[in-house]
Amino acid sequence: MRSRFKKWALPFIEEHEEITLSLPFEDKTFFESAPLYLEIGSGKGDFIVSLAERHPENHYLAVERDVSSLGTLAKKIVEKELTNVKIVYQDFDKVAPELPKEGFKTIYLNFSDPWPKKRHSKRRLTAKPRLETYLSLLEKGGELRQKTDNEGLYEFTKEEVEGTAFINLVDEKDYVFDEENDAMSEYERNFRSEGKPIYRLIYKK
Ligand SMILES: C[S@@+](CC[C@H](N)C(=O)[O-])C[C@H]1O[C@@H](n2cnc3c(N)ncnc32)[C@H](O)[C@@H]1O
Repeated sequence: MRSRFKKWALPFIEEHEEITLSLPFEDKTFFESAPLYLEIGSGKGDFIVSLAERHPENHYLAVERDVSSLGTLAKKIVEKELTNVKIVYQDFDKVAPELPKEGFKTIYLNFSDPWPKKRHSKRRLTAKPRLETYLSLLEKGGELRQKTDNEGLYEFTKEEVEGTAFINLVDEKDYVFDEENDAMSEYERNFRSEGKPIYRLIYKK
């Protein structure tokens, strides 16, 4: 679901150059100076902000193409004065070629759009060509972590992973939230409050 259009979001993002990375990335220091984590489709950002607060030793990159959601995330980063999260306002497919190869410890996909119609399956974030991209971006032993409320997307990911170099570590149909090692996104909080089961997959490169 698209968030309500927020007029202030783009000016706010543009005004806060200290948290924004724009294509082409000229200064790559952020990628090179700490262990690096990527979230694709961060939405309003509760997940990545929570991880970044708990792990100041890491760097977190949020890629989001919806300006209104990203505006909300940007506000949280600024208000909390976090220096270890950067945002990119762009579609992931355009960002991917600019990202450091084998540069990421983990890639997170939280409640990605399921695109339920078969003719839209190529848009899903776990379509095979994107999985190959994730493999190129992850360091050896790095992880792809997906959570979803959507059984169809969960099954699709498992099918698409077949024949790739990913090794399955976790496959859960009713994931009990791991407070210590995980964080909750806005969508996860909503789905849990409705009593919906959460599907979780973790793969290792
Ligand atoms: C269903 S929302 C979930 C938001 C958040 N991850 C959560 O769990 O609360 C999916 C988000 O992914 C973003 N998104 C989908 N495809 C994307 C892409 N190719 N590049 C960047 N963002 C994308 C959408 O704009 C949307 O904000």
